[in-house]
Amino acid sequence: MGRVTFDYSQAKTFVGESEIASYQEKVRACHELLHGRRGKGNEYLGWLDYPRDPEREEVARIKAAAQRIRDGAEVFVVVGIGGSYLGARAAIEMLTHTFYNDLSREKRGGPRILFAGHQVSGTYLSDLLEILEGRDFSVNMISKSGNTLEPALTFQALRELLEKRYGEKGAAERIYVTTDQEKGKLRQLAREKGYEAFRVPRDIGGRYSVLSAVGLLPIAVAGIDIDEMLEGAARAAEELAEPELEKNPCYQYAVLRNIFYSQGKGIELFVSYEPQLHYLGEWYKQLFGESEGKEGQGIFPMTIHFTTDLHSLGQYIQEGERSFFETVVSIENPRKDFRVEGDRYSFNEINKIAMKATAAAHTEGGVPNLFLRIPQLTPYYFGYFVYFLMKACAISGYLLGINPFDQPGVEKYKEKMKELMK
Ligand code: PA5
Repeated sequence: MGRVTFDYSQAKTFVGESEIASYQEKVRACHELLHGRRGKGNEYLGWLDYPRDPEREEVARIKAAAQRIRDGAEVFVVVGIGGSYLGARAAIEMLTHTFYNDLSREKRGGPRILFAGHQVSGTYLSDLLEILEGRDFSVNMISKSGNTLEPALTFQALRELLEKRYGEKGAAERIYVTTDQEKGKLRQLAREKGYEAFRVPRDIGGRYSVLSAVGLLPIAVAGIDIDEMLEGAARAAEELAEPELEKNPCYQYAVLRNIFYSQGKGIELFVSYEPQLHYLGEWYKQLFGESEGKEGQGIFPMTIHFTTDLHSLGQYIQEGERSFFETVVSIENPRKDFRVEGDRYSFNEINKIAMKATAAAHTEGGVPNLFLRIPQLTPYYFGYFVYFLMKACAISGYLLGINPFDQPGVEKYKEKMKELMK
């Protein structure tokens, strides 16, 4: 198997090797804080070793439940917000057919997969309920705390519909809950009603939880091989545990981000050239935004989709304020390609040329370009890549001196809402 690689060769006009090397001791200290479990937020480091030693029984139960859902539901609704849905959505979008939900049941091999509970739009919920009319559906309600407003409200509506249609017992066979192993309203409800429940390990925070039951159940329902995904992440855990900066691409990425930040480039544009990476970008934004944006600091994570955005933000990136750098996610061997008969270049070849040309133009325009190269879009590399980013985020946060595992700021809007809803 290959690896996810980090390539900063095109950014060398912005940063010298000696400056990068000068971070070695700081990186070693951060590495020791992380692996010695002595740093800020060390009660949330379960994700660090989980893929190497996942809860096998839980994984077996996830696979069995996924099979039941695949056999018995026309639609599968995943209810969750933030870290409780973005990872699964990213994986399903990256690893299945671009138009998965529009394929025939036979081609999909499983249910349509829809997401809900990630906002409180009445239109969205009403339209969803309309889609569910006359269709057998199952629900996975995912909430670690069990009391997040958006998914709780949506779940209430879906549960009522299920109970009306199938009775309490029938509904219980269609509801799957992913939550804390003991605490919270959702765990209590699952116990009372007899819902099959999966656990979110207490030492894994939402945005680091995609490789636990939080992500694995919806991903398995989409027919994706979760063993292979865990294997990729386990390999990343092994290969990226090297404290030497020159041998660890994940730490190099964390360092380069911090160097650009110190140069006044406070925005990272996370760039992709494949539409299947849209939700990976959403997941990345949450991971880095919630982890680093605190104590008045942090790189602002932003996603860009090329070549689409070359026709909207391209002008700004080329000639606007010089306050950002780009990190391009390159899929080295895309799943499929297309060539118009008689044309010299295929679509993928043109996409690669666009990638090279854009990086060259932006570099000339004063925007450093970093590359994260993924050999292929497979479950193995998905596992490897998300682990790579989670670890880079943790080290990057420690380099900034903040706690990359908490999110105290998220509470503020909730307090204000409570006041308004009194
Ligand atoms: O990363 C996080 O911890 C958050 O984004 C949570 O995932 C999000 O707020 C949802 O929380 P919960 O799973 O408790 O409903």
